[in-house]
Amino acid sequence: AAPADLAGLHAVVTAGPTREPLDPVRFLTNRSSGKQGYAVAEALAARGARVTLISGPTQLATPRGVTRIDVESAEQMLGLSLAAAAEAQIFVGAAAVADYRASEVAGEKIKKTGESLTLVLSKNPDILATVRAAQPGLFMVGFAAETEKLAEHARGKLSNKKLNLIAANWVGNGKAFDTEDNALQLYWPEGEQEIPAASKAEVARQLVDRIVSLYQAR
Ligand code: C5P
Repeated sequence: AAPADLAGLHAVVTAGPTREPLDPVRFLTNRSSGKQGYAVAEALAARGARVTLISGPTQLATPRGVTRIDVESAEQMLGLSLAAAAEAQIFVGAAAVADYRASEVAGEKIKKTGESLTLVLSKNPDILATVRAAQPGLFMVGFAAETEKLAEHARGKLSNKKLNLIAANWVGNGKAFDTEDNALQLYWPEGEQEIPAASKAEVARQLVDRIVSLYQAR
């Protein structure tokens, strides 16, 4: 069994896509399955942490030993993340949060009256950056899904969002989103590590090993 070196600690994990409503029957979303985030939640629980999983809509079963809270929109995920983070030591943002939401959600179903339809979108709040501003002492881990310049973009997010660790992966062309295997490149202020392609459960165990060693050395 894994060592219970996170016993007594509370970890919060966000996972899955968000769903941004357009009207009572339609929404904007993305291809995130939630698998990597759920695997991280399970791996943290296996190391003895109390784990709260804040999940967008997924097809997945709740991992053993994990308390799950279901949300849809980014704004809901932010509210519950801020509340849970207030009593946590570790926060892992694995959710694929929609960058934009509809500026106005229609109260009735949008009718197909015109030959074209323009949607006006507003930028969603950044959950990690907002949680960090509220909880400067939290150990925070982000993900970066990239199609180019992996190291440069990941290190930029590590510093802009003031994270302790970022897990970057290549996406597009069938990589990472809605797949069984994953590979991660980890970056933290003083180092980096490659986690080669493996099941999302195995990748999560190696990511949690790194979280434990950086948390203990902080
Ligand atoms: O900036 P970008 O979306 O690429 O950053 C990805 C990381 O930031 C992920 O950890 C994701 O969960 C988080 N994020 C967030 N709130 C957003 C957008 C992304 O917490 N609105």
